[in-house]
Amino acid sequence: KRVAILISGGGSNMVALARAMTDDYPARPCLVLSNRPDAGGLDTARDMGIATAVVDHRNFKNDRHGFELEVQKALEAAKPDIICLAGFMRILTPEFTAGWAGKMLNIHPSLLPKYKGLHTHARALEAGDAQHGCSVHEVTGELDGGRVLGQARVPVLAGDTPDDLAARVLPFEHQLYPAVLKRFASGDATPVMLGGG
Ligand code: GRF
Repeated sequence: KRVAILISGGGSNMVALARAMTDDYPARPCLVLSNRPDAGGLDTARDMGIATAVVDHRNFKNDRHGFELEVQKALEAAKPDIICLAGFMRILTPEFTAGWAGKMLNIHPSLLPKYKGLHTHARALEAGDAQHGCSVHEVTGELDGGRVLGQARVPVLAGDTPDDLAARVLPFEHQLYPAVLKRFASGDATPVMLGGG
């Protein structure tokens, strides 16, 4: 399977995915695309020999559709079977995601369906949750909706700041996403559950 990975920043999840896609893994990266030309993950992707593309969303102010048309063109050129959003910070319209229904995944730093949207770590702390974590889900027209394909749980510890929590969750993202993609690429929808929490 050909996998396109969409990033906006450092791309640590993209790196984890790309590093996993070797040997008998049922998928290979075919493109890393960023909405930001300065995304650090672009350099890393190039160093890893992965094709890259940039569609700078700042060139499409108030023109979400125009931005998505360019993204669609870049994706169609790469012919992915699967798209992985990995630290991609643009909301995609339902029209765009409908074109990739059943083929697009995202990793979100919360135990969905809790805390869809932003500032997930701070919200978990405010709620006094004993556990937190990350989820990989299929992307639908609903923000951070869609079927959950895997989760990793970590404990919330006394005195945790949002950054402490993010730092505890991130390594689990790097384990979870490659594990979920492996099953998804081989047609196995059995959820991946990691961590004791
Ligand atoms: C991470 O915090 C992750 O939870 C979210 O985006 C952030 C950056 O990810 N998906 P990455 O390092 O760019 O993959």
